[in-house]
Amino acid sequence: MKIEEGTVRVFDTTLRDGEQTPGVSLTPEEKLEIAIKLDDLGVDTIEAGFPIVSAGELEATKLMVKQGLRASVCGLARARQEDIDAALDCEVPYVHVFIATSEIHMKHKLQMSREQVLEATTKWVDYTKDHGVIVEFSPEDATRTDPAFLSQILEAAESAGADIINMPDTVGTATPESMFQMISRAVSTVKIPISVHCHNDFGLAVANSLAGIRAGASQAHVTVNGLGERAGNASLEEFVVALHLLHKKKTGVNTRLLYETSRLVSRLTGVPVQPNKAIVGENAFGHESGIHTHGMLKSPLTYEPIDPELVGRRRWFQAGKHAGGHGLAAKLAEYGLHPTMEQMKEITRRVKEIGDKGKMVTDADLSAIATAVIGGVSEEKKVIDLKNITVVTGTALVPTCSVKIVVDGKEYIAAETGVGPVDAAIRAIHKIIGPLADVKLKEYRLEATTGGSDALAEVLIKVEDRDGNIVSARSAREDVVLASVEAMIEGINKTLIKSRVRAARD
Ligand code: KIV
Ligand code: ZN
Repeated sequence: MKIEEGTVRVFDTTLRDGEQTPGVSLTPEEKLEIAIKLDDLGVDTIEAGFPIVSAGELEATKLMVKQGLRASVCGLARARQEDIDAALDCEVPYVHVFIATSEIHMKHKLQMSREQVLEATTKWVDYTKDHGVIVEFSPEDATRTDPAFLSQILEAAESAGADIINMPDTVGTATPESMFQMISRAVSTVKIPISVHCHNDFGLAVANSLAGIRAGASQAHVTVNGLGERAGNASLEEFVVALHLLHKKKTGVNTRLLYETSRLVSRLTGVPVQPNKAIVGENAFGHESGIHTHGMLKSPLTYEPIDPELVGRRRWFQAGKHAGGHGLAAKLAEYGLHPTMEQMKEITRRVKEIGDKGKMVTDADLSAIATAVIGGVSEEKKVIDLKNITVVTGTALVPTCSVKIVVDGKEYIAAETGVGPVDAAIRAIHKIIGPLADVKLKEYRLEATTGGSDALAEVLIKVEDRDGNIVSARSAREDVVLASVEAMIEGINKTLIKSRVRAARD
């Protein structure tokens, strides 16, 4: 296998190791949807699955092969005939064969001697290679394997025809220093390319992968959002961006598609991305502190090490108790609100007061405060307003909602069904708003602020417009459907006002 100097191959294992995340299981169609996205993203290899595991894995791998993707589709196999045959049966051009080589695994799991593992390495790499496919070989638990024995294994795999050797840190116990040493030794033992596969048990997967690359590895196994067994694998987005920006190395990945790929994987796997995760977390490009916001408004270089657009994101500012007048003023300007210095001081004081009560200040809260302080502001007039709402639900009925909404002074009525009354209500609003504005519900959070069945339901939402602008809104009521609808209407209003102000300015 030839790899261009200065370029690193990205081997994506979201659909294999990533799918081994506890609780994650994808249908063949969902796997195909993710594979198409990964192909657009520009990864070199897609590990489609472990074909011996189930009929679904086999079908998913076959679907990906048939799709004719640009990336190589790879199937995983233990060093045994039935696994390798299952992968070959999918007509993959690339098979990843592995066998454990650490004393712990050989004794407790395989019950095989070193000689037997060496023999199996030669036999099954040779067998796979005989079928004319690319063979990647992994000595599982490499980082806990005796270095001298590991070298013997690598030599055996190379002699048997392996095209590339992958070095797994199966339980994530490597450090950047030990990884550097192990990969340096591997690179000087064999002539074929070396790859790294790092797990995140100690939170070091990306750092270890980068150390492996510095030591001479030319490929890394990664997963979208860092999914994978236990604490996961090295995260694709963090690894690629660090490699490009900090190590000045190239990959085939189009970083502008990282965020949307992350969202798709999160949606289909049901695994949320932690808000403070690098690159793809919601807060990765959000600023709240007054000092930071002030600096950012002067020059993004002050507190932004990565241009958000490079990874398909936008920067945003949060109103909150840490925010200063500059940040809040910039945020209000987005809604066409321009308070005086005196008014700004009062708005900032009220925002901090809410923050000190431990509450989040939404965009709707901020402009409501500003409107109250400034007095009536023409742009602040609602674009849409809820006139009335009727909901029916029950065990013998499909939850149905009808709404009457006024948009720019004109009345619209729509009815929709849903999985529950809130879903039906949101769908009914969308039926009216959809043709007028491209706004989608991005996040919905329901909290009961008091105990008991008459508890106040607090709904916090985020809506996103076509250009990726996100607006947050909240409502609190005893009736959860009404709270949801009001929050949604608030969010849509804010989005529409914001885009109209922008359009008038441009
Ligand atoms: O972590 C690991 O060792 C693996 C192997 C199958 C390569 O995922
Ligand atoms: Zn793994």
